[in-house]
Amino acid sequence: MRAIFLAVLLLTAVPALSQPAPLQAVDPSVQSATPPTDRPEPVPQGQPAQAPGVPAGGADVQSAAPEVGAGRGDAAPNASGANTGQPASSDPQRPTGAAPTALPRPAAPQDPGLPPMPRAPMNARGDVSAEELELQRIREGGVVDGRVSIPNQSAGILIQPEGRDWRQFRTRVLTIGGLAALAIAVLALAIFFTLRGPTRIDAGRSGRKVLRFTLTERVTHWMVAVSFVLLALTGLNITYGAYVLRPLIGPEAFTTLTLWGQAVHQYLAFAFLLGILIMLVRWAGQNIPRRVDWEWIRAGGPLAKSHPPAGKFNAAQKALYWLSMLAGLALSVTGILLMAPYLLDNVTLQQWAHVAHGLLAMGMIAMILGHIYIGTIGMEGAFEGMRDGEVDYNWAREHHSAWLAEEVANARRTVAPDAVPGRTAGAD
Ligand code: HEM
Repeated sequence: MRAIFLAVLLLTAVPALSQPAPLQAVDPSVQSATPPTDRPEPVPQGQPAQAPGVPAGGADVQSAAPEVGAGRGDAAPNASGANTGQPASSDPQRPTGAAPTALPRPAAPQDPGLPPMPRAPMNARGDVSAEELELQRIREGGVVDGRVSIPNQSAGILIQPEGRDWRQFRTRVLTIGGLAALAIAVLALAIFFTLRGPTRIDAGRSGRKVLRFTLTERVTHWMVAVSFVLLALTGLNITYGAYVLRPLIGPEAFTTLTLWGQAVHQYLAFAFLLGILIMLVRWAGQNIPRRVDWEWIRAGGPLAKSHPPAGKFNAAQKALYWLSMLAGLALSVTGILLMAPYLLDNVTLQQWAHVAHGLLAMGMIAMILGHIYIGTIGMEGAFEGMRDGEVDYNWAREHHSAWLAEEVANARRTVAPDAVPGRTAGAD
């Protein structure tokens, strides 16, 4: 129904762009009186095909979905204070067919360079036609809307000007900026790997193991990891698939894949959010910055030649933890707002949710690429901790010596609670 309604609204607006006469400032008292029954006047012979200042083909009207559509307009409370996501231009509403109400509207600023505007075309009743008023609002950069008889009054918005900025972001900033961020991350990791190679266990493997992650921690981590990777791939397909995949696999296969991808993207968002919440509760305490982290950073962090002491997580891991928790939560919230747009009922806020979601996603993918590198090919012995739960004793001594010392002390206390401090109890 909404699509049909929009199509009808669009069809009634487009002919206005081919109206020949340039516009004049319209009496503000007439501007919002736009009875839906008004029809465009016939085009007089010999008039120019297009009003000055309006791009050929009516580009302003032929805009992307969020700009033209059943959007939710700019926030402006109506007379009753309800439905505050409504555009000022659609308030107050009056019943269909009732006498037009005159709402004041500021007169359009005239460009001093333009020739004086002749009077706008009138309809059969002698009023300025609705199409002319809409065209004038387009030229002023205002909202173009109609009237609807359903509770969702914002469904009457036909053109929402902020949509142009949003479209610019979607087609330029996000696409090109995101690609640049991902390319820089991959390039930096490739250069780092070429120059440094994988970080080996200097002392070699000891053959002894230390418990690093419990089963619950590992299940939580892999739930977040698997869902994030699938969310990233299906999300990247939404942004780049039409340019990259469609030419490779053809439109039909691409459509099927994208439909499945969209479902995966929406359902896995909840597994990702759940995992992030569990991680937040479980690991927050171990990721509070401590003095040993500053020493680790001062010693050169990941670039240090020696192995500076670190707790269970070093400063870089703590930074990754907090960034991924914050970005993960923000991604989930903005994603849910996009999935359930009625929660906002305001197209401008939806556009902001989309901007935040896109930017956070690109940033987080670039960051997690670095994490995946360190957790797999970048560091010998790290992956098995997350796979089996145990790491080699020498790996722990080199990368997390402060944590290992605490673990050994705890084990000694457990094995021989009354043992003399400093005496070997066999736990290590
Ligand atoms: C295929 C993807 C992934 C792989 C291979 C991977 C691998 C690993 C490994 C091996 C560790 C243990 C590091 C250690 O023992 O010090 C780890 C820890 C961790 N992972 Fe992942 N991970 C992946 C995805 C993710 C994702 C998507 C997130 C978050 C959104 C994440 C967040 C963490 C955090 C917070 C830790 C603990 C701190 C740290 O080691 O940085 N991981 N991961």
